[in-house]
Amino acid sequence: MKTPLFFQLQSLSGPALATEAEAGLRAAAAAVSPKFFYDALGSRLFDAITELDEYYPTRTEAGIFAAEGAAIADAALSCSGPAPVLVDLGAGSCAKAARLFASLAPRRYVAVDISVDYLREALAGLQREHPAMELVGVGQDFSARLALPAELAHAGDAADAGTLVFYPGSSIGNFAPAEALRLLREARALATQGKGSGGLVIGADLVKDARVLEAAYDDALGVTAAFNLNLLRRLNGLLGADFDLRQWRHVARFDTQHSRIEMHLEARQPLTVRWRGGERRFAAGERIHTENSYKWQPADFEALLREAGYGAVRRFADAQAWFGVFVARA
Ligand code: AVJ
Repeated sequence: MKTPLFFQLQSLSGPALATEAEAGLRAAAAAVSPKFFYDALGSRLFDAITELDEYYPTRTEAGIFAAEGAAIADAALSCSGPAPVLVDLGAGSCAKAARLFASLAPRRYVAVDISVDYLREALAGLQREHPAMELVGVGQDFSARLALPAELAHAGDAADAGTLVFYPGSSIGNFAPAEALRLLREARALATQGKGSGGLVIGADLVKDARVLEAAYDDALGVTAAFNLNLLRRLNGLLGADFDLRQWRHVARFDTQHSRIEMHLEARQPLTVRWRGGERRFAAGERIHTENSYKWQPADFEALLREAGYGAVRRFADAQAWFGVFVARA
């Protein structure tokens, strides 16, 4: 049996994270990156979100893979060739990629996530089920820049083995179009830097009725509100801040102009937040912008893929066209 290999690349130190969060709090229009959601509790709250009736993306994407997994795998393998290196962006529990192992038969699986620690348990479990597969865990915050050492992203000895980049879950939705284009180009560079050919399998959430979208980000049970408010708890820990969560309200709105769900935290009353080395007043109704989740028209997302240099774009969707899985040649 092989053993998984682990690498932590450019990890953000506690102080660097704190500096970034503090700059966001001080900005005229306060904004904090959604990556701050995912501490241990935040990751559990996100898992709970994926089980909500209102939160359709996870279940709809899983349905597309269940119904069309064979066609998706065929399309992907026609880009990469057999036995590809599979690079999973934001791998988390690695469960989505593991469901593709039977059809893709990857020679190596490279799981990338912001922290390599999240990956240890998942990869140890996967190795027991797939004793001969090469498993690699990489800690990288690819929201700023995606780049892996060539020897990880490619099978050096196997000249014909291509690379498939897998980016499910519509996490690409956190990026504004220009940033999404940059990330897709970096993913393409990764998939083509070896001798083999490469491809991309990516999930993107699609434009639909605003009521459906807003319910998915403001559920009746209040799990998404808790997920959003947990960011303040995180900042209390990270910055030594004194956010009182009861003074803040969860807001989620679909902005048609930008085609994105915006999540904010809104001050219910005038208040002052203090932290190590700073403070800020918020007027009643003033907001901290915590997340954008872009929703794509299928044709626009395909155009984005082509602009990033991809070809042979295939689209797989559910019957309502609520979610798209796109396969493209790198
Ligand atoms: C993990 C970015 C895909 O945008 O739907 C879910 C995060 N935020 N509910 C999304 C999220 C609120 C999610 N992504």
